[in-house]
Amino acid sequence: MRRKLVVANRKMNGSVPGNKEFLEGLIKGTRDCHNADYIVCVPHPYLYQAQAMLADTEIAWGGQNMSRHDAGPYTGSVSPGMLVEFGCKYVIIGHSERRNRGQDSDNSVGERFQAATKAGLTPIFCMGETLEEYEKGLTDLVTIRQLNAVIQQVGIKNLAKCILAYEPVWAIGTGKAATPDHAQSILHFLRGYVILKDVEVGENIRILYGGSMNASNAAQLMSMPDIDGGLIGGASLVTEEFVRICRAANELGSA
Ligand code: PGA
Repeated sequence: MRRKLVVANRKMNGSVPGNKEFLEGLIKGTRDCHNADYIVCVPHPYLYQAQAMLADTEIAWGGQNMSRHDAGPYTGSVSPGMLVEFGCKYVIIGHSERRNRGQDSDNSVGERFQAATKAGLTPIFCMGETLEEYEKGLTDLVTIRQLNAVIQQVGIKNLAKCILAYEPVWAIGTGKAATPDHAQSILHFLRGYVILKDVEVGENIRILYGGSMNASNAAQLMSMPDIDGGLIGGASLVTEEFVRICRAANELGSA
């Protein structure tokens, strides 16, 4: 049985006092919610704060990107080991906001995936098609291309070390979430693809939906059979809204 999972992708948002208020609210709001998992991915300067505030809770924290290198002359980059030093267990890899600005390619996402797992981090590996690709009916081809690039580099067994996230670019930050049926059909397709390669990996891997998930649509989306949770951007900036999403996951989960 796959546990439900809610991940906050806070993107380039927050402040020390604002994070404090958010994390305090989240800790309080999920104190009785033991049937799902919760992760908060913050900008790197706030990792120390996340670690200090979340260390004794069931809420995990992570980074939003990292270098594939361990150390060296990479100005402005952060290594996997640095994330680990600040207690991260997770890191977002291949988010479309990086892919579509040319900062990540299918290939470099695979390299980051390997570097993350080598350091003991669980990648939250994002895939998804642009609006243009969606309108051309290319969703399946694009997501499989993105997925295969990683499988080819790491092998199907190692795919089990990640969390997959399907995030259609046209749904991110637009307020136009995919319908539960549409998201379910893509996630079912992706899971089926993995199952064809390895039944155990495909059945156990957690796949999230992301893209304008909010407190009003979360329960419906997450109750679909292949949707194991959500990757939440905008709605993770409003404490009460994010807590409601976490609580919805908890209600759908089992102890
Ligand atoms: P959104 O972002 O929830 O604001 O659409 C999701 C994401 O980019 O991870």
